[in-house]
Amino acid sequence: MASSGSNEAWGSRIGLILAMAGNAVGLGNFLRFPRQAAANGGGSYMITYFIALLLLGIPLMWIEWGIGRNGGKYRKGHLPGMLAAIWKHPAAKYLGVVGMIVPLCVMIYYTYIESWTAAFAWFSLTQDYWGHTTQEGMIGYLRSFQGVPVEGMTPVHSSYTPYAFFAGTLALNIWVLSKGISGGIEKLAKIGMPILFFLAIILAVVVLTLPSQPGIGTTPWQGLEFIYNPDFSRLDEPSVWLASAGQIFFTLSVGMGSLAAYASYLKKTDDIALSGIATASTNEAVEVVLGGTIAIPAAVTFFGVAGAMAIAQGGSFDLGFATMPVVFQQIPGGQFLGVAWFSLLFFAGVTSSVAMLTPIVAFFREEFGFKREHVAWTLGAVCFAFGMMHVHWLQHGFLDEWDYWAGTFGLVLVAVLEVIVFVWIFKPEKAWAAIHEGADITIWPVFKFIMTYVTPVYLLIILGWWGWTDAIPILLNEKTAGGGVVTPEAVPYITLSRAAILFIAVTFLVLIRAAWKRNKYDDRQGFVEVPQTGEAA
Ligand code: TRP
Repeated sequence: MASSGSNEAWGSRIGLILAMAGNAVGLGNFLRFPRQAAANGGGSYMITYFIALLLLGIPLMWIEWGIGRNGGKYRKGHLPGMLAAIWKHPAAKYLGVVGMIVPLCVMIYYTYIESWTAAFAWFSLTQDYWGHTTQEGMIGYLRSFQGVPVEGMTPVHSSYTPYAFFAGTLALNIWVLSKGISGGIEKLAKIGMPILFFLAIILAVVVLTLPSQPGIGTTPWQGLEFIYNPDFSRLDEPSVWLASAGQIFFTLSVGMGSLAAYASYLKKTDDIALSGIATASTNEAVEVVLGGTIAIPAAVTFFGVAGAMAIAQGGSFDLGFATMPVVFQQIPGGQFLGVAWFSLLFFAGVTSSVAMLTPIVAFFREEFGFKREHVAWTLGAVCFAFGMMHVHWLQHGFLDEWDYWAGTFGLVLVAVLEVIVFVWIFKPEKAWAAIHEGADITIWPVFKFIMTYVTPVYLLIILGWWGWTDAIPILLNEKTAGGGVVTPEAVPYITLSRAAILFIAVTFLVLIRAAWKRNKYDDRQGFVEVPQTGEAA
């Protein structure tokens, strides 16, 4: 039963850390974080954010690495296999299906958004949006690019433009993926991460030295104050707690099984305790320091604190794709700063999106013995097919549905499964020992307690609360996944969007069943350990 895919490994420790950090550092750090922090009251949000980091993010980071490396002993890079390796019950593999649905769905719309950053880097270089100097004007330009009709505005681009950028971005992702773990993903991280740091530092410095604007009078530092001054006034709002927990999940990439897939390429003798915390710390430094220092201070300088908050409460992408271009048009060197900002987003995005399909690629290689290149390009075609629906129906909330069910609710669901199986079914002692196998540090024992009791309870509260306040009302079409009012015209698109997720779910369930039959796995016996060759493919 030794199938292909058993001979891949990371090339070096630094390569592994860069790839893991590349996985975590993404659009979430530079677009989602500033917007959320500003929309949820800055200083209050940050308090709940750090609590979620300690009680959810960091423990889950270790759990994902642990579950992944344990799966790797049996050459299982996908969640159905990883769960079945621990919980010897026929249901384990089927529950693991969420660890396949979520990354595929997120990959599809994430890559589409990533393609906007490529497009806008190009539009900055060619000064295509120059002349749209107001916030409203830039929002119109953005909507027009996205194919959303804007009243009183003739579309700026051909309706094929977003498809072309999406196809190119997706093709690049698939190409990297087809080159494998050390030959593709690790190489990309070694090039992309230094560029990302470099661009982010330049932009942060430029923003902090922006002069205050006539008629506005705020300085960039007031943007920083707004985020970092502790504020206890909104701590009684559950929505602030939920938003920050959701951000912790998203930004650290926990709850997708993709960190676990990366960790499955590690050996028993490799450290995960230190590497896991190093990954989380790098992501947090980039998010809180660099991500917090670019978009919000820039918006505060040009629109004031209240103006920046209002922008953040508007469309998800207005801050990054409309406000920032308005700023670039008003400062010296704006053309190149625009290229720098959108290239930064692009590099952050691509080192994340290549991670998302790794569990799926692993599944097809390990269970069906298909060749990596074939799997990658076939998945690319599947992503393009579904992605076209997102491009086409963006204005009808198609993407918002996926972002909610897969990118928000789904992550917590996967995390709940991981904790229950790895900590409770495997038992805390074994989980703790698995995390410390080959470890360079001993983790503070308090985290064993947190992982066993606090993280699962916190997760269940979030899941329950979200279920009650969001999931059920959204499901019943009482509100949209984007938080708006459901119009009768939108209903068919929302239904179609959910049907597409359901179709993916059923397909994966059938494939899991087929894989177990084909390989004659005995659920009660578990898998046979695969000798680790450790050579890079
Ligand atoms: N962490 C990524 C970001 O901040 C997004 C993300 C969520 C992700 N889950 C993931 C990336 C899984 C790779 C794999 O943008």
